[in-house]
Amino acid sequence: MGCGADEVVAALRAAAVVVAEHREELVRLDRAIGDGDHGENLHRGFSAVVSKLDGSAPATPGAVLKLAATTLISTVGGAAGPLYGTAFLRAATAVGDAPELDAALVAGALRAALEGVVARGKAVVGDKTMVDALTPAVTAAEDVAEGGVDVAAVLAAAAGAAEEGARSTEPLVARKGRASYLGERSAGHLDPGAWSTSLLLRSFAGGAR
Ligand SMILES: Nc1ncnc2c1ncn2[C@@H]1O[C@H](COP(=O)(O)OP(=O)(O)O)[C@@H](O)[C@H]1O
Ligand SMILES: [Mg+2]
Repeated sequence: MGCGADEVVAALRAAAVVVAEHREELVRLDRAIGDGDHGENLHRGFSAVVSKLDGSAPATPGAVLKLAATTLISTVGGAAGPLYGTAFLRAATAVGDAPELDAALVAGALRAALEGVVARGKAVVGDKTMVDALTPAVTAAEDVAEGGVDVAAVLAAAAGAAEEGARSTEPLVARKGRASYLGERSAGHLDPGAWSTSLLLRSFAGGAR
């Protein structure tokens, strides 16, 4: 699979559709252990990304990712806005001005995204955040990319590992973000940000529903 600017734009449009489809679910998850805005926040952000993409067509994958980053930072809000914004910004920087993404560049972009989220939010695996989904996704992506596969296979591996990581947040007690205010009562619920990370990666992989 060739992965130029057009394919990255298509991936972001697919992500916006999936976020819209899962808006209520994300609201429900965030209502259980947060303030209930995660679905609305992401829906507003990805709708804005689609509007920006409708109005301009950046020439490289990196430029598309950077446009998504700046748009998410200015529209999503909450804890997740700056975190997702940083993730996309670091991914954009990692791919530079490459005209096409290959498996190694995608794995590198995911690694950079995770490093950005960790630098900004200081969460570690087990804190019940998006880091619990993104960390295994990056490891899986890197493992697969070493085998010289295509971008689709890297994203599929990342999405599968992210889903498993997101599901692993259910029994955890939150140690970061709003959910941590609940202490022990945060256990027994999926983390909304981990779940949205899983959904986004699944949509990038082309299989989300
Ligand atoms: N320090 C952090 N590091 C990583 N992710 C975090 C952190 N704090 C919160 N999150 C993620 O953000 C999600 C909540 O996002 P959202 O509801 O949009 O923001 P808010 O908590 O401000 O209402 C959480 O489910 C969690 O995954
Ligand atoms: Mg919230």
